[in-house]
Amino acid sequence: MPNLVYLNSKYIPFKDAKIPIEDRGFQFSDSVYEVVKVINKKILDFDFHIRRLKFSTSELKFNFKVNSILLKKIFENLIIKNKLSNGIIYFQITRGVQSREHAYKKNLKPNVVVYTAKKKFNLPNKNFKGFKAITYPDIRWGRPDIKTTSLLANIIASTEAKKNGAYEAILVKKKKITEASHSNIWIVKGKKIITHPANKEILKGVTRTVLINIIHSLDLKLIEKEFSLNELYKSDEVFVTSSGSLVTPIIQIDNIKINNKKIGKITKTLALSFYKSII
Ligand code: PDD
Repeated sequence: MPNLVYLNSKYIPFKDAKIPIEDRGFQFSDSVYEVVKVINKKILDFDFHIRRLKFSTSELKFNFKVNSILLKKIFENLIIKNKLSNGIIYFQITRGVQSREHAYKKNLKPNVVVYTAKKKFNLPNKNFKGFKAITYPDIRWGRPDIKTTSLLANIIASTEAKKNGAYEAILVKKKKITEASHSNIWIVKGKKIITHPANKEILKGVTRTVLINIIHSLDLKLIEKEFSLNELYKSDEVFVTSSGSLVTPIIQIDNIKINNKKIGKITKTLALSFYKSII
């Protein structure tokens, strides 16, 4: 049975799924997306993803009405059809097809794609890994809070990280840390857990939202504020969160060792609590 893709109301083999070349997603990255985690066949945090998708499509004025019941059914069908136990569901909506012109026409028909990919998550209950990160200038456009596929600055940063044997690129804007190329970033200083406020400068991660609730439930101290590159280097612990990374420790940044390259206690506690909340 081939891996199936959902494309505009049909389930078709991956290799047969095609999008016209004048699709605005291809021409201009005029498209939005969501990455949803699946663990033990369970779709996680679906409602948060739907809420953010509604935000992205409405900010960009897409002609797309989010039907969450239908979407859930599509996700569930793909999990069964593709025998997905652990992995991600990738969901992308483009504005639609139009003869090439920068300005978009109203009422285009969006192209809707959903597919799945298997993934091994970095789990805290076995072989939990900490990684190196690099820092890199945040040269993204002014609305990284919208989850669009316009990700050139992110992919340049991420590729630079990979070239340097690092897991992530931490983005620096005017000496302040915003987030990372494909995840949100957190630092721990003493008993304080600090992360950038969810304003227009970062993507409001679904994993971030879930972890904030966990931090409150554990009675730990959370501060949502900007922090500097210097504070990052001097942190006791650093970790990143995303649908693909869950809670992943960062134990070295550039040439600076964090917590002597050991996974910190608070990071481990949060990763375990997060893991328990999803299994
Ligand atoms: N990335 N910040 C950025 C820039 C991201 O690309 C992501 C997610 C996050 C975390 O969001 P969430 O917790 O909702 O996954 C933060 C996804 C996984 C991706 O592009 O593959």
